[in-house]
Amino acid sequence: MDVKVPANIAAFLDTPTPDAWVATACEHLPELLLDHANCELKAASTALGFLYRYPERTVLAQRMSRLAREELRHFEHVRSIMQDMGIEFERLTASRYAGKLRDAARKDEPGKLLDLLLIGALIEARSCERFARVAPQLPEKLGRFYAGLLSSEARHFEHYIAFAKSECAVDESEVMARLEELKVVEAALIAEPDTQFRFHSGLPT
Ligand SMILES: [Fe+2]
Ligand SMILES: [Fe+2]
Repeated sequence: MDVKVPANIAAFLDTPTPDAWVATACEHLPELLLDHANCELKAASTALGFLYRYPERTVLAQRMSRLAREELRHFEHVRSIMQDMGIEFERLTASRYAGKLRDAARKDEPGKLLDLLLIGALIEARSCERFARVAPQLPEKLGRFYAGLLSSEARHFEHYIAFAKSECAVDESEVMARLEELKVVEAALIAEPDTQFRFHSGLPT
């Protein structure tokens, strides 16, 4: 299967996923799927969080409601693939990635909304890149499912970036400057050694 990282995502991420992560993922399929299912659930919950926090923002709220439903459909799909493969659902400890990115978000508005949207864009972009990188190495049915997720995650990335520019009343130059800072945080989490394997973990040790 020939799968490529979508051009907008490849152009956005300066630090590609290390080959060692892809190799480790193929050796840890149950953990990959389990954490992936958790990520879809968290993506839905993140979208709902925007709805709860900013219900008066009509365009944002409508989009996030649709996004939450789409992420829940992804969750259902991963769960049914897990069931077909005989993988039990288990609770996993939180990954370093999401926690550290969340820590990097400012706590006060308007910085908080901007940071949460930019972090959403980074997570969607990285997820998309990882689906593309790992899909050709997976058993065919799973690989096809992952390849099929690329376009939606690339679209989610675009929505988050667009909202960062339109919803925060911040100059575009300031948005881009903050994005560069958060990109550095994200890239370190991907490139630095990580003792735990997860969908968004760093360099396997
Ligand atoms: Fe998703
Ligand atoms: Fe997504």
